[in-house]
Amino acid sequence: MSKKIESVNYGLEKIFDGAQDFLPLLGTDYVELYVGNAKQAAHFYKSAFGFQSLAYKGLETGSKDTVSYVLVQDKIRLVLTSPLNSKSKVNDHIVKHGDGVKVIALWVEDARAAYEETTKRGAKSFLEPTVEKDENGEVVKAGIYTYGETVHMFVERKNFKGTFLPGYKIWESDFKPEPVGLKFIDHMVGNVGWNEMNTWVKWYEDVMGFVNFLSFDDKQIHTEYSALMSKVMSNGNGRIKFPINEPAEGIKKSQIEEYLDFYEGAGVQHIAVSTDDIIKTVSDLRARGVEFLSVPPDEYYRAVPGRLEEFSHELREDLERLKSLGIMVDADEEGYLLQIFTKPVQDRPTLFFEIIQRMGAKGFGAGNFKALFESIEREQALRGTLDKS
Ligand code: FE2
Repeated sequence: MSKKIESVNYGLEKIFDGAQDFLPLLGTDYVELYVGNAKQAAHFYKSAFGFQSLAYKGLETGSKDTVSYVLVQDKIRLVLTSPLNSKSKVNDHIVKHGDGVKVIALWVEDARAAYEETTKRGAKSFLEPTVEKDENGEVVKAGIYTYGETVHMFVERKNFKGTFLPGYKIWESDFKPEPVGLKFIDHMVGNVGWNEMNTWVKWYEDVMGFVNFLSFDDKQIHTEYSALMSKVMSNGNGRIKFPINEPAEGIKKSQIEEYLDFYEGAGVQHIAVSTDDIIKTVSDLRARGVEFLSVPPDEYYRAVPGRLEEFSHELREDLERLKSLGIMVDADEEGYLLQIFTKPVQDRPTLFFEIIQRMGAKGFGAGNFKALFESIEREQALRGTLDKS
């Protein structure tokens, strides 16, 4: 596999020189998953991933159709939502997609402007600007659809002093497992259908004002059996990064096809979360039962020193330790990065998590793609979804 990454342009600030960013984004506000049993999912994300209880909305707060548990770890907020009856629309989403990401909420200064700027550029509306109020102030929310049934919700919270959003109460819990050191969302990856990647790249460019700053084609991302293509989109200030994958033809079925089959459409493939100490984070996660993809083979780790040397970087971590935990290493001109991927976090082989520690590198682990995908293919073989049927 080629190590060359084409069309790299990290100078995002230069791209916006002289041009106004019509959709200024302050960061990721929250990620909402629709799940079959939010109460149990919340327990899983607390006990296994070290999230803490933050806020709650349900029958006790007057929410008759849905229940939501909000969890927090440093800057990451996860919302887990389940329906409370058969009429809730959340059911349709779960029946079709299984558990998965419904909303990637983006923190904005002005939600009405964000909605207007994106819908006038062609975004399909999910929620018109809506003011939600309680005794802690007000929040303006507005939502647009992106790929599949996934939604970007713009959240304006400058006039709100509460814990999460109006309508939620503080969720006090005596069960407070230690956090595992997850800091913030580094990127979130979407899987889209055949020949749809460029459509969505253009959508993010035109509708959201994002730029495509990294591209990988099927000649760069492939194993002996399968292939995919990926383009990384970033907003103007570089805080929000959305790589978009589509499957490519191979001898066998790629993991993207498997995802599309089981999610029954486009959706979020993985959430990459950042840590400052991946050895501790992954040790803790493993001890709590989080399952990761299989450890890459010995020859992978034998090649790591050479890859770092190529870019004159010195590995600060103990390579044997990284190997024992299955953490992968990639390097580019600016530094290196450490990363590892969980197995899917629900029964359908769809959403999973990535744990990433950046040591200067701004890429996405292109040098690890082959080892990673071979590892996923071993899992696919066990599921009987590697062979084309
Ligand atoms: Fe990733």
